[in-house]
Amino acid sequence: MYHVPVLLNECLSALRVRKDGLYFDGTLGGGGHTQAILEQGGIVIGVDRDEDAINECTERLKPYGDRVKIVRDNFKNADNILGEAKLDGAILDLGISSHQIDCCERGMSFRFDGKLDMRMDNRQLLTAEMVVNEYSEDRLIRLLYEYGEESYAKKIVRNIVKARAVAPITTTMQLSEIVKASVPKNIPSPQKRTFQAIRIEVNNELRGLDKAIKDIFAHLNAGARMCVISFHSLEDRIVKQTFNLLSTDCICDKSLPVCVCGHKAEGKTLKKIKPSPSELKENPRSASATLRVIEKLL
Ligand SMILES: C[S@@+](CC[C@H](N)C(=O)[O-])C[C@H]1O[C@@H](n2cnc3c(N)ncnc32)[C@H](O)[C@@H]1O
Repeated sequence: MYHVPVLLNECLSALRVRKDGLYFDGTLGGGGHTQAILEQGGIVIGVDRDEDAINECTERLKPYGDRVKIVRDNFKNADNILGEAKLDGAILDLGISSHQIDCCERGMSFRFDGKLDMRMDNRQLLTAEMVVNEYSEDRLIRLLYEYGEESYAKKIVRNIVKARAVAPITTTMQLSEIVKASVPKNIPSPQKRTFQAIRIEVNNELRGLDKAIKDIFAHLNAGARMCVISFHSLEDRIVKQTFNLLSTDCICDKSLPVCVCGHKAEGKTLKKIKPSPSELKENPRSASATLRVIEKLL
């Protein structure tokens, strides 16, 4: 199985798929969400920057013919990809697929030994190996604090710098051992935060996410909805703040007596949704998922 889609039924009921309606899936992965939309009669423009995802979906979604258009790109380019198209719904299922985690040679997981790569898009130059071996000590510390919320950032980075002065750090296991040796023994999976931080940096996962959401939202028809699934608090905060901004009238400083911004809400934020107990049981990887939904106002 390439990837088990998370919160699938919840996304489908939020999207209220219309026959022959046009939908945007910015994170195709294994094509699970897209296939479900196609099954309900929708037409999909599906995007992923990962070559494996594109190959998987090209095969898997063949039976749907020209009802699905598959594009290898970054969803941050949605405005270009969509041109003048108006959408009846959109979905972003952020983060990485099970396939990406489980391919040890891609170096996304500290559980498998592999090259320090971590790229979703193998056409880009920056790899995890370059981040770990070439970033300055200060920059690495900041990265672990900001993208990993790692309280032992200084200790970990000091040991990375010591190790790379002897020989370049090239594998996930080497990095994993350095992290383990830098933090107290009783911390469960201490490598998680360091790996997350480096992966976010390599794939530039957070910068521009707010703009991408606004760009895709701008293509929605009135009454259409956008679903965004996030997998950690940093991502979720951006989704929440962007949705709040789109759903708020005045955004003036609270100290001003009257509104001077003239900002008008264009959307309505719906309730946030977490996986059900049965989904958690069937797919433990869904545990950290949060779905947020916004509806374009009429
Ligand atoms: C969690 S998976 C999506 C799984 C998919 N919904 C399914 O049901 O199989 C996330 C996918 O989004 C892709 N991705 C992440 N950020 C991206 C971006 N900025 N642009 C395009 N694709 C991206 C990843 O390569 C990965 O394949």
